[in-house]
Amino acid sequence: MSDAFSNLGAFPSTRMRRLRSGSSIRRMVAESGLSASDLIWPVFVKEGTGREAIASMPGVFRLGLDALGEAAHRAQALGIPAMALFPATALELKTADGREALNAEGLIPRAIAALKSAAPEVLAVADAALDPYTTHGQDGVLDSRGEVANDETVEILVRQSLVLAAAGADIVAPSDMMDGRVGAIRRGLEGAGFSRVKIMSYAAKYASAFYGPFRDAVGSAAALGGGGKRSYQMDPSNLREAVREMALDLAEGADMLLVKPGMPYLDVVREASRLFPAPVFAYQVSGEYAMLRFAADAGCLDLRACVLESLLAFKRAGARGVLTYFAPQA
Ligand code: PBG
Repeated sequence: MSDAFSNLGAFPSTRMRRLRSGSSIRRMVAESGLSASDLIWPVFVKEGTGREAIASMPGVFRLGLDALGEAAHRAQALGIPAMALFPATALELKTADGREALNAEGLIPRAIAALKSAAPEVLAVADAALDPYTTHGQDGVLDSRGEVANDETVEILVRQSLVLAAAGADIVAPSDMMDGRVGAIRRGLEGAGFSRVKIMSYAAKYASAFYGPFRDAVGSAAALGGGGKRSYQMDPSNLREAVREMALDLAEGADMLLVKPGMPYLDVVREASRLFPAPVFAYQVSGEYAMLRFAADAGCLDLRACVLESLLAFKRAGARGVLTYFAPQA
């Protein structure tokens, strides 16, 4: 035992339960806490009005722009600082090259405007990635061998980011895992006068099966077919590689780092917050939402208690905040 621990004393001079004996003392010694400022609310948007249920995510809806405005208003009232927007793109707008991603009058640019007009204080986080817009459901364009082409995709992501910034996005979040995209997007934003637009990089994004319900929500699951994303998203075996990804993204100009998925990757969150002096966020993804929600609906666990515990665990692991579909309830 190191010196720091050698004179802590043993039972009964040390009784660990003393500091757990009442709620005030427990609050006084709590090492982490959860508040509305820790939450980023991801929402799905659709054309038209009203809202549409998502079978694999009970309680989460695809929102028309009117419903998005109401949600943004609610977020602002609750003190939630940011919302992340994901589009359910109409099938007829999907192409092999995902060109709808560059449409300045597309669903996401209009959603950003709707969000900002309903709730000017809520930051708009917009994903830079092509998967909601491609017929094949991959995050980029394909080369002649059917592989996702890195450099061509990065060029498109820069143009997409400029469209998002021009539409009023406060934060661009590249979720595609192409190499070099953070630097290219940063240069693009600086060059176009968007130097205040922040980049939250999905720096450590794993090729995870926990994204299933999301792909259902944005309609990329069917497009993707059996195709995986292992040639660009990270191998779930790796931690050291995540550190390298994050170091690169910071060097390229990322302002904030994101680890995704969340709960199965708390070790990555811990390592990121320990090693890098930049804010680290965790994404409690759609599959994690579904696990908690379906288990609660089956009467197996207490939803409120489990959600709050899971969110606190992210804070304990070192996350500055959490993207979670439970944000408004939490
Ligand atoms: C894709 C993207 C995905 C998610 C956010 N952005 C899915 C994927 O990589 O296939 C998943 C989020 C979730 O599961 O909640 N660019």
